[in-house]
Amino acid sequence: MRTPVMAGNWKMYKNPAETRTFFEAFLPLVQNTADREIVICPPFVNLPAAVGAAQNSRVEIGAQNLYWAREGAYTGEISGPMIHAVGAKWVIIGHSERRQYFGETDETVYRRTVAALEAGLKPIVCVGENLGQRESGATESVLGDQFAGGITPLTADQFAQIVIAYEPVWAIGTGKTATPDMANDAHRFLRSQAAKFGQSAAAAVRILYGGSVKADNAKILMGQSEIDGALVGGASLDPKSFAAIVNF
Ligand code: PGA
Repeated sequence: MRTPVMAGNWKMYKNPAETRTFFEAFLPLVQNTADREIVICPPFVNLPAAVGAAQNSRVEIGAQNLYWAREGAYTGEISGPMIHAVGAKWVIIGHSERRQYFGETDETVYRRTVAALEAGLKPIVCVGENLGQRESGATESVLGDQFAGGITPLTADQFAQIVIAYEPVWAIGTGKTATPDMANDAHRFLRSQAAKFGQSAAAAVRILYGGSVKADNAKILMGQSEIDGALVGGASLDPKSFAAIVNF
C-alpha cells in the first residue's frame, strides 16, 4: 500500500506574509484528511514562515531545490543542512524548469538527491519529456535516460527513500493534462525502470503525477493504479483549490 503524497510547488510565488495567509485558510480545510501526506514547497525565503504556520498540523514543508555541498564559497546557493535546520522535510529536485532554465542535468539531479538524503530530507525527483519528444515517440527513451542518469546510480537504500514525480513538460502550466492512461503508462514504465532496485523496491516507490493537476481532474488521475500522488503548481497557490486536490 503506497501512501499518496499530495505536494504543492509554489515556484516563485508568495512572500512570507502571503504564506501565513495561505496556511490560515488551508489548514482547516485539510485537517480531517488522514490517509495521505501533504507537502508544500514555497520559495526558500518563506520556509521559516511555512514551517511556523504548519506547526501542529499534518502538513510538511519542502524546498524547491538545494545545492549539493554542505557549505562553502557558493554565492547564492542553499544547502540541504540549511533547509533541514529551518524545519523543512522535503525537497524537489530536477524540476523541468530547473533543467530548462538553470542547467540542471541528470548528473546534478543525482548529486542533489544524494545531498538531500545525507541532510535528512526526502527528495521528490522529477522526470518528464517535452512536447517534441512526446510527439516523436521518444517519451520512454527520454524517461529511461533521465532515470538512468539521475536515479539508477543511487544505492538501494537511497532509492528506498525517494519519491519520483512524472511531469510531462508539455502539461506544466499549460492547462493540458496527460490523459489518465498516458500518465499511467509513463508511471508503469518508470516503475519498470525501478526494478533494477528489486521488485519490492519498484512496487513500493511512490510516483507522483504533475502537470496541470486541478480540483476537477485530481480524482480521475489519482484513481489510476500507478499514480501515487500529485505535484501541483498553479493550483497549489490557492488554499481552496489545493485543499480540493488534497481531498480529491
Ligand atoms: P502546474 O505545474 O500544476 O502549474 O502545471 C506543475 C509543476 O510544475 O510541478
